[in-house]
Amino acid sequence: MFDRSIKIAPSILSADFANLGAEIRAVEDQGCDWIHVDPMDGHFVPNLTIGPNVVAAIRGHVKTFMDVHLMIAPAEPYIEAFAKAGSDMITVHAEAGPHLHRSLQRIRELGVKAGVALNMTTPVSVIEHILDGIDMVLVMTINPGFGGQIFTRSMVEKVRQARAMIGDRPIHIQVDGGIDANTAPMVAKAGADVLVAGTAVFRGGSVENPETYGENITAIRRAAEGALAKLA
Ligand code: DX5
Ligand code: ZN
Repeated sequence: MFDRSIKIAPSILSADFANLGAEIRAVEDQGCDWIHVDPMDGHFVPNLTIGPNVVAAIRGHVKTFMDVHLMIAPAEPYIEAFAKAGSDMITVHAEAGPHLHRSLQRIRELGVKAGVALNMTTPVSVIEHILDGIDMVLVMTINPGFGGQIFTRSMVEKVRQARAMIGDRPIHIQVDGGIDANTAPMVAKAGADVLVAGTAVFRGGSVENPETYGENITAIRRAAEGALAKLA
């Protein structure tokens, strides 16, 4: 069943990499909705993070929904490995290769939900003719590669455009980059339902002090839901 209510997806890029299983359990126990994972190739973005083996290793610790945002170009040679690693959603960047449609088909053939990520300069119109083939659009609100960057306000209008294009279709709108309790209301009002947050979830907490994760998650959720309630 499709659900457009607000979902908080902690990006484990800001977690303790030496303790990923416990970090995932901590944020899930503290009420997050999805777990967002950020593989990077040192080529599409200027950073290297994790590959399919690590994704497979954390799979057993994820009880909610494992959302895998590939910052890899070309993505296609690695889709099968990330699917076999147990991804629930695989998101590929529209800029990662000339055959976006083929990549999305491949993801769905493997029984995984398919997302399209848009760098900030990429218009929403790239998905206009493939709306039946996608489960999520990810509107980047920073340049991908690193956590802790500042939210880009002009992306709020882009989220609004994506929301208008999607209409009643069962397609999530995700935002990623600089999301916290201050920026969440803007993107929620514009139509985003999946809010990725790394710094704003993991800041100040640890597996020994997980309540801080819970407070951080609740603050983002309340801010977003509060803004929606005012609209209604
Ligand atoms: C960056 C990643 C993000 C990142 C967000 O390229 O896609 O998921 O972890 O980090 P914050 O929430 O700190 O901006
Ligand atoms: Zn991400």
